Amino acid sequence: MRISFCCTDTSATEWLDGLRAALPQAEVSLWHSGAPLADYAVVWAPPQTFFDEQTQLKAVFNTGAGVDALLRLRLPPDLRIVRLDDAGMAQQMAEYVCHALLRYTRGFARYAQQAAHAQWKQHDALTAAHCPVGILGLGVLGEQVARAVAALGFPVNGWSRSPKHLPGVQRFCGAQELPAFLAASRVLVCLLPLTPDTRDLLNGARLALLQPGGYLINVARGAHVVDEDLLALLESGHLAGATLDVFRTEPLPSAHPFWTHPHITVTPHISARTLVAESIAQIAGKIIAVEQGQPVRGEVDLRRGY
Ligand code: NAP
Ligand code: GLV
Repeated sequence: MRISFCCTDTSATEWLDGLRAALPQAEVSLWHSGAPLADYAVVWAPPQTFFDEQTQLKAVFNTGAGVDALLRLRLPPDLRIVRLDDAGMAQQMAEYVCHALLRYTRGFARYAQQAAHAQWKQHDALTAAHCPVGILGLGVLGEQVARAVAALGFPVNGWSRSPKHLPGVQRFCGAQELPAFLAASRVLVCLLPLTPDTRDLLNGARLALLQPGGYLINVARGAHVVDEDLLALLESGHLAGATLDVFRTEPLPSAHPFWTHPHITVTPHISARTLVAESIAQIAGKIIAVEQGQPVRGEVDLRRGY
C-alpha cells in the first residue's frame, strides 16, 4: 500500500515517521510533482496539481476537521474524503471557548488594563444564569463545547442543520429558526464548517439580533463573519466585544483593524490544533478499516460541503 503525504504548514518528518511506525506494511512518502501514484493521501491544503496527478486514490485523509480548503479544488466527484473526528481537538476547543466566555462575563480584560496602571476598582460581573450562550454548529466540536459551557451554569442554545437532542441545550435548527436562536443568545460561538450556506452568515443584520451587550467568539473560519459589520456593531455598542481565532486572511495582516481594536482579542488560529500522535493513530486506524471494507467516521459529504 502506498501513502502520499502532502501538507503545507506542518512538520513533515514527524508525520512521515509516525505514519511509517503506525502502518509498517505501507510505503509512506512526501508528495512531489511526478511522484508515483498512491492508494491513500494524508493532506492539508494541497495544491490542485496533487489531485490532477494522484488519480488512483482510494481515500484522502484531511489532517484537520475543516475541509473547506480541500473542497475549493477540482476533485473527482466520487473521491472519498475523511476529516479528523475530534482527535483531541474537542477538549482544546472547550477550554478555549470557556476561557473567552469567562473573560467576557467576569471582565478580566478590564482588570488586566487596570492592573497595568495599579488601579484597584471593582465592577459588577455578568452572572452565568443571565448570559445565554448560543452555539452555531453542534457537531463533534460544538457538542463538547455545549456540554462544557452548560457545566459552568450558562443557559445554552444550539443551532444545527438537523435536529439535535443534547441534555441542557435548547435546540434550534435550520435557517428558519436562526433568528429566534440569535435573539435568545447573548454570547455567540461559531463552530460551523465553512460552506456556501455558512459563508458570510454572521453579517450585520444577524449579529444585531443578539441580545444587547452581546459577545462573539469565532473559532470556525474567518469567512463566516463580515468583518466591517462586526466592527460597526462594536462601534455602536450593541456588541461588547469579540474573541477571534480565525480570519479571512491568515496570518491576519498587520494593518487589519482587529489587531488594535480595544474590544477584540485576536489569537493565531490555535483554538484547537491538530495533535500529531492522536491524528496519526486515528488516520492509521481508518486506513485499515477502509482496506477491510468497514465504514469510517468523519466521511465528508461532498454535496453538503462538510
Ligand atoms: P462537524 O462535526 O461537521 O459539525 C458541524 C456542525 O455544523 C453540525 O452540527 C452541522 O449540522 C452544523 N451545520 C453545518 N452546516 C449548517 C447549516 N447550513 N445550518 C446549520 N447548521 C449547520 O464539524 P466539527 O468537527 O465540529 O468542526 C466544525 C468546524 O470547526 C470545522 O469545520 C472547522 O472549520 C472549525 N475548526 C476550527 C479549528 C480552529 O483551530 N480554529 C479547529 C478545528 C475545527 P448537522 O449536525 O445537522 O449536520
Ligand atoms: C483547523 O482549523 C481544522 O479545521 O482542523
